[in-house]
Amino acid sequence: MVNIQTNRLILREFEDEDWVSVHEYAKDAEVSKYMEWGPNTEKETRNFVKGARTFRRDDPRRHYEMAIMHKEDKKLVGGCGLTIFDAGMRQAALGYTLHREYWNKGIATEAASCLVRYGFEELGLHRIHATCDVLNIGSAAVMKKLGMRQEGHFLEERLIKGSWRNTFLYAILSSEWRAKEVLKNLNPPQRSDEVQ
Ligand SMILES: CC(C)(COP(=O)(O)OP(=O)(O)OC[C@H]1O[C@@H](n2cnc3c(N)ncnc32)[C@H](O)[C@@H]1OP(=O)(O)O)[C@@H](O)C(=O)NCCC(=O)NCCS
Repeated sequence: MVNIQTNRLILREFEDEDWVSVHEYAKDAEVSKYMEWGPNTEKETRNFVKGARTFRRDDPRRHYEMAIMHKEDKKLVGGCGLTIFDAGMRQAALGYTLHREYWNKGIATEAASCLVRYGFEELGLHRIHATCDVLNIGSAAVMKKLGMRQEGHFLEERLIKGSWRNTFLYAILSSEWRAKEVLKNLNPPQRSDEVQ
């Protein structure tokens, strides 16, 4: 069972009853605008939470789908996931989604940063990548703040909600993550919402 604390957040495993809080953002068309899923029906959200709980029993585990809990507000405000799609090559994909009320407060960066650290330090991953629609400026900003490099720009790679989408691919290697950590320790962050 994974349970990770950051300054403002707790990343923990999903519980069955979390579907109600997840549905608060998963039913929001603005939240899923650039995603292959959504806006969700209640059944789809229940299935997502059930799936996240099932994945954690896999041995070896491939999916780390975590609930993002806001400590001060005592609320589930989003989800953040790491999927190991090639265990032999130690490659994983990162994703994150937040309730709209919590956007632009550095929360996705804080949560994703901890999951990336978990991926490299605890799971021994070699490379983590993430993708986003080129119009999803907030998501691309999170990837850059995590220290990821842009590796790809794919044209009309996905047909989502009736239109062809262009996609950015960003990635970070474990060696790059370690170098960034060394630099951060030399220049500690000042703000409370800085990357952990
Ligand atoms: C993408 C998402 C997770 C970002 O979460 P977040 O907590 O707002 O991200 P952060 O606050 O850590 O960083 C976002 C950055 O983008 C910036 N940003 C967001 N929208 C922007 C816009 N339209 N123009 C310019 N900058 C923008 C923010 O100002 C912030 O930058 P800063 O730290 O320099 O101020 C959130 O918007 C979300 O859940 N979106 C819906 C789901 C989704 O698209 N998930 C990603 C799938 S690839």
